[in-house]
Amino acid sequence: MKKLSSIIVATLLIVKLGFAGEGMWIPMLLEQLNEPEMKSMGMRISAEDIYSINKSSLKDAILLFGRGCTAEIISDEGLILTNHHCGYGQIQKHSSLEHDYLTTGFWAMDRSQELPNPGLTVTLLVRMEDVTRQTLEGVTTGMTEKARSEKIRENIGKLEKAATEGTRYNAKVRAFYYGNEFYLFITETFNDVRLVGAPPSNIGKFGGDTDNWMWPRHTGDFSMFRIYVNKNNEPAEYSPDNVPYKPKSHLPISLKGVDKGDFTFVFGYPGSTQEYLPSFAIDMITGVENPPAIRLREKRLNAFDNFMQQSDLVRIQYSDKYAGVANYWKKMIGENRGIRKLDAIEKKQELERQFTAWASADAVRSERYGGLLPRFELLYTRLRPINETETYLIEGGLGIEAVRYAYSYNQLLSKSRDKTTSDEEIGKLVTQLQASARNFFRNYNQSVDRSVFASLMADWIEHQDQSKIPSAIVQGAIVYNNDFEAWADKLYAGSIFTDSTRIKKLLDRYSVKKMKKIEADPMFQLALSVYDHYFSQIQPESQMINAELDSLQRLYMQGLMEFQPDRKFYPDANSTLRVTYGKVDDYYPRDAVHYRYYTTLEGIMEKEDPAIYDYVVEPGLKQLYVKKDYGRYGAKDGTMRIAFTGSNHTTGGNSGSPVLNADGQLVGVNFDRNWEGTMSDLMYDPDQCRNISLDIRYCLFIIDKFAGAGHLVKEMTIID
Ligand code: ARG
Ligand code: GLU
Repeated sequence: MKKLSSIIVATLLIVKLGFAGEGMWIPMLLEQLNEPEMKSMGMRISAEDIYSINKSSLKDAILLFGRGCTAEIISDEGLILTNHHCGYGQIQKHSSLEHDYLTTGFWAMDRSQELPNPGLTVTLLVRMEDVTRQTLEGVTTGMTEKARSEKIRENIGKLEKAATEGTRYNAKVRAFYYGNEFYLFITETFNDVRLVGAPPSNIGKFGGDTDNWMWPRHTGDFSMFRIYVNKNNEPAEYSPDNVPYKPKSHLPISLKGVDKGDFTFVFGYPGSTQEYLPSFAIDMITGVENPPAIRLREKRLNAFDNFMQQSDLVRIQYSDKYAGVANYWKKMIGENRGIRKLDAIEKKQELERQFTAWASADAVRSERYGGLLPRFELLYTRLRPINETETYLIEGGLGIEAVRYAYSYNQLLSKSRDKTTSDEEIGKLVTQLQASARNFFRNYNQSVDRSVFASLMADWIEHQDQSKIPSAIVQGAIVYNNDFEAWADKLYAGSIFTDSTRIKKLLDRYSVKKMKKIEADPMFQLALSVYDHYFSQIQPESQMINAELDSLQRLYMQGLMEFQPDRKFYPDANSTLRVTYGKVDDYYPRDAVHYRYYTTLEGIMEKEDPAIYDYVVEPGLKQLYVKKDYGRYGAKDGTMRIAFTGSNHTTGGNSGSPVLNADGQLVGVNFDRNWEGTMSDLMYDPDQCRNISLDIRYCLFIIDKFAGAGHLVKEMTIID
C-alpha cells in the first residue's frame, strides 16, 4: 500500500515537472516528441517547417554566433541579428576615442561601410543524425570506464571523418543524456562576418548591470551583422571581393506583436544545464560552491567600482570585465534563492526516495540501481571539500589579473630552460608574448588589481584552513602578519608582471639568460604556487571522482527513464541547436506582487536619470517619445513595446535567439532570464521561470526611426 501511494506521488511529480514550458528539445525529434503538444498550444506550422533535411526550413536561418551566442538570418542578403551584448566585443574593437561606436552606436549606410571582424565566425547546422548505435559499437557492459571511452572516441573519430570527407563541412559527435545517446552534427562555418549596425549603449545596454537578470526590463539589446561569401556562395576568408550570403532560408518578421497566452518558441544554442543531478550535487553547488564564489566576486566588483568611479579611463578599461564578473555573480545569487524557494533539494530527495523504492521492488533493478544513490552520496561527500578549494583557486587566486598574466610566461620559462629549444622558437614565443602584453596592459590598471589582490587574499585566509591554501599565500600572510595591503604594495611594486615598461624591457631584448628574472619574480612564484596547488592537490582526485560520477550519472539517467516511462525527457543543454517552447506569460514573483508581461517606452522615461550612467536616455529617443512618433512599429494601444516575458526554457547561449510565433515569424530576440527563475539551469519552475525577449518592433523602430537606417528594414521580409 505504501508503495502504491508513493508511485502515485511520483506520477504527480512527473506531471508537474513535465509541464509545458520546460525542456530544450532536439530539432530532428520534434515531429515525434513535441509536435502534438506544440500544436495544442497554438502552433500553426509543422515540425517539418522548423527542421527538415529535405526542404529549406527555419533551421537554415539559425546560427551559432561566435563561441557562445545565437543569431538569426533576417534577409535574403545574409543580414543577421543578435544581441548587443553578443556583438559587444566587436563593437568595442572598432571603437576609438574618435569613433566611439559603443557610445554613439554604429550604422553602415551602405555595404561599403560594413566592418570586417577577423576571428568572428557564425555556424549553420546542415543536418544532424542519431549515431548512438555506431558510437557504441564494440562497447560492452563489462568494459572498464577507460576502455569504454577509448572505444567511443575511436568510433567517433571514424564517424566524423566519414561524414565530412570531400565536403567543406565540419562534423562533431556529441553525447546526450550523459552518454546514453549520441548525435552527429554536420555544420558549415562562415568567417567573413561584418558589423552592420548597433545602437548606442544607452539603448543597447540601457539599465546595465543594475537591471541585468531583472524584470521589468528596458534594454534594446541587439546588434546586426552580415555574412559574406565567395562568388559560389561558399564560406571564404575576408576579401573585398566577397559578396553577401544568399541563405536557404531567412526569418520573416511580424509586426503584429504578442499577447498574453500566445504560443512562442525559441530556436537557438543553449550552453549548459544540469537538470538530472542528484540532490547531493544541488546541495554542493548551492551550499559549497556558490557562496564563496558570490562573496569573492563581490569583493572584486567593489574594488573595480571604487576605481571606475574615480577615473573615466579605468571605467572604459574595466567595463567589460565588470560586466563579465557581475553577470554570474548575480546569476548565482538568484540561483541560490530560487533553489531554496522551490525546495529543490527536498524535491530531488523525494524523487530519490521513490526511485530507490522502485529499484528495490525488483531483483534485476535492485542489482542495477540499488547502490546508485548511496554511491552518489559518498562521492559528493568526498567532492565537497575539493570543489570548495577549487572555487577559491578560481575565484580567489585566478581572480587576480597579474596571477593569470604571470602564469602565461611559464611556457617561455620552460622552453628557456630546455637546452634543445632553438633561438627561432624562443623568438616566436617572445613575439606572441609581446602581442599579448599590448592587449593585456591596454586594459590593465595596477592599482585596481592591487586592491583586488589585497581583498581576495584576506578573504581566503579568513575562510579556509591553511592546509587548503597554496603555500605561497600562506607564507605571504605569515610574513606580512595578515597585513594584506602592505603585502600587496610590496608585491606589485616588485614584480615585472604588473608594469608594462618592465615587461617591455624583459621582452625587447630577451635571451634565455633572462629567464632568471621570470623565475625570481614574486608574482610569478605566487602564480606557480596557485597552479601547482591545483595540479597536485585538486586535479588528480577531482578527475577520478568526476569520472566515476559521469558513469553513475549515465546509469541514473537510464534508471530515471525506466522509472518514469511516461515522462518526456529532454537532454541537458550542451551548446547544440535546440527548440524550446512556451507561452507569452506574466508572473507573481513575491507575495502580492504581479509583473505584467511587457514593458513600454514609458518605463524608459520613468527610469531616466541623467546622473546615473545606466539610466541616461538618448536625446533622439526622447524626442520620438515626446512626439509619439512610432511609425508602423507602435502597438495598437499607442505604446511602444520594449520587451516581454514568456515561459520558454532558456539558458546562457540562448542570447540572440529568435523568439518565433505560431506561424514561425520573428516576434522577439531572447536576451535574458528573470532573476527569480535563474535556478532553471538546475530545476525549472513553470510558475517562476521566464525568458526575457526584446520586442522586434522596438528593434526595427530603433533601426528605422531612431538611426535612419530604414534601408536595412527594406531588405527584410516584414509582415504587417
Ligand atoms: N544576463 C544576460 C546573459 O547572461 C546578459 C549579460 C550581459 N549584460 C550585462 N549587463 N552584463 O548573459
Ligand atoms: N544573457 C544570456 C546569454 O548570453 C541569456 C540569458 C540566460 O542565461 O538565459 O546567453
